[in-house]
Amino acid sequence: MIRLTRRYRFSASHRLHSNSFSDDENQRLFGKCNNPFGHGHNYVLDVSVTGAVDERTGRLVSTGALDRLVRGEVMARFDHADFNRDVPEFSEAIPTSENILQSIEQRLRWAWHKEFPEGGPALAGLRLQETKKNIFELRS
Ligand code: NI
Repeated sequence: MIRLTRRYRFSASHRLHSNSFSDDENQRLFGKCNNPFGHGHNYVLDVSVTGAVDERTGRLVSTGALDRLVRGEVMARFDHADFNRDVPEFSEAIPTSENILQSIEQRLRWAWHKEFPEGGPALAGLRLQETKKNIFELRS
């Protein structure tokens, strides 16, 4: 079994804030990240895929097909977006990296078979780097 990890980059802004907490609680929980005007990150997204090597091509996955999927479902919606205002699931949910990763997984799973057949390459995991110090991983 081979695993391929392909890297994508996008820039987006967010504000960590929940309407179910008071302003004081939001400030205590999220600190600077609760700043009302938000702030941006240059995110690095690693998408890992596993599966069998296609005997005809000698490859695990068409990187072109993976790019179409990730660009269409993730980059086109997240790059240069304000998560809180531009991405529907974050009108309520807090756009932490944990929640962003789960949203990316849902989006990719929903659209996966547009590009890949049953029994073909499978999503194996996601990794999101938000800052130099914070790297989040989701294992599928
Ligand atoms: Ni932030």
